[in-house]
Amino acid sequence: MNTNKVEAPKWLIFSGLVLMLIGMMFGAIGAFQYMLPGFLKQYLSFEKTRPFHVSSVVFWILFSATGGVVLYLREYAQVKISRWLSRFHLIFFVTGAILILSGYALGFFGGREYWEFPPVLALFLLAGWILFIIQVVKSVKTLRQQPVYIWMWLTGAFGFLFTFSESYLWIFSHFRKDIVLDMTVQWKSYGSMVGCWNMLVYGAGIYLMEKISQDKPYARSATAFALFFLGFFNLLFNWSHHIYTLPVTPAIRHIGYLVSMTELLILGRLIYKWKDSVTAMQKTQFGLSYRFLMIADVWIFLNLFLAILISIPAINVYTHGTYITVAHVMGTTIGINTMLLLAVSFDLLGNTCRSMEAYRVQVYRAGWLVNGALVVFLTSLLVAGIQRAQWQMSNEGVPFAVMMNSLRPYFIAFAASGVVLLMGFATIVYPLLRNIVACNFKPRKQPVAGWKTPVYQIE
Ligand code: HEM
Repeated sequence: MNTNKVEAPKWLIFSGLVLMLIGMMFGAIGAFQYMLPGFLKQYLSFEKTRPFHVSSVVFWILFSATGGVVLYLREYAQVKISRWLSRFHLIFFVTGAILILSGYALGFFGGREYWEFPPVLALFLLAGWILFIIQVVKSVKTLRQQPVYIWMWLTGAFGFLFTFSESYLWIFSHFRKDIVLDMTVQWKSYGSMVGCWNMLVYGAGIYLMEKISQDKPYARSATAFALFFLGFFNLLFNWSHHIYTLPVTPAIRHIGYLVSMTELLILGRLIYKWKDSVTAMQKTQFGLSYRFLMIADVWIFLNLFLAILISIPAINVYTHGTYITVAHVMGTTIGINTMLLLAVSFDLLGNTCRSMEAYRVQVYRAGWLVNGALVVFLTSLLVAGIQRAQWQMSNEGVPFAVMMNSLRPYFIAFAASGVVLLMGFATIVYPLLRNIVACNFKPRKQPVAGWKTPVYQIE
């Protein structure tokens, strides 16, 4: 019997990994279009490349986070998960992603930034999400004495449903006809939506840390709950840094500024302190997951610095909508979300039918490559953004084309480091994809030695 048969939540993570690679390929084409305006324009203009890239990488985060949460909940609560709920969750998500991406290829747009597909396709994501919530609620039997990650998963799951629906309020003319209301609701929902998926990702990261160190009080500590409440507060208010340019009540901006990014500070500190409690044996046993948790920690502090800077209203007025914002968004989604989710993926998808040991050195090296490339990638965007902001403020009347031409060296560095990022991530992800394919098509009778997570039953 194949004891490592791949179940739906694992296929979700697998699909997420594939979407991440597809998304990065479109990102690379977009980066070449920065460098060579008009590149491939006839077939794939930047207006298409960007939604292809952004939707695919956002799907990577959503697919892998929800798949990871379902599997971790089962491990934690020792419950059976519903096979049908997770199968339909997978089917809705994957069908939605295929329809959305093929729609882009055929020129079907009609949504808003990030969700640029026709709104009707959002129903697939909504349906999958509702099934995910049912699965989570079924597995959490009580709220008493629960560790922080359970609160994070519940908040993230329900919060995302709310904010995702809210981000579609623009389809009603009441919201669309008032531009300030429309933009306020839109940016508010997007900011909070990111806060919700962060809850899922950070919760999974904290569960994984507990699993590695076997330190149970850790996820029940005051610091862990401080992170939760701050994250929750940020989820409600931190979006205000998106709307500094809109004429809304000043209190909103001040609160936003005060709470902005404190959550990252605590998360960074949590991981930093946790690493001291991990024994050498645990580090070796969970080597690859541990490595990506550590990488995420470094990027948390680097992003925190940038985030604090661009949250200052006087700076934000100039940076909003420039390459600096793109650097902030990609810095956090790659450096923090992707690294944490890779740690989770190595824990859940690795070492089942094929040992990861043979790939360990290759993945470590690719990790270094990715980190180096990411530094160049983000720095080139930041410098290009600063130069562009200076041009916007200057009275010298330098033509747009001349200014853009002067940014070319940074765009070349951006595109080149982006391609290295893509290759590095492909090298990291390959053993996981191969392992899952092996489990499905060429299972070994015995699990790989050293593989210790028990095989759970499903309904
Ligand atoms: C897992 C990896 C990645 C993630 C999670 C990611 C995420 C994102 C997100 C969320 C945005 C939207 C930014 C915004 O709205 O301001 C974006 C934009 C973009 N990304 Fe990425 N990205 C990744 C990798 C890459 C790579 C490897 C490249 C290039 C080779 C790339 C090139 C771009 C470009 C060109 C844009 C458009 C920026 C614009 O609109 O001007 N990305 N990315």
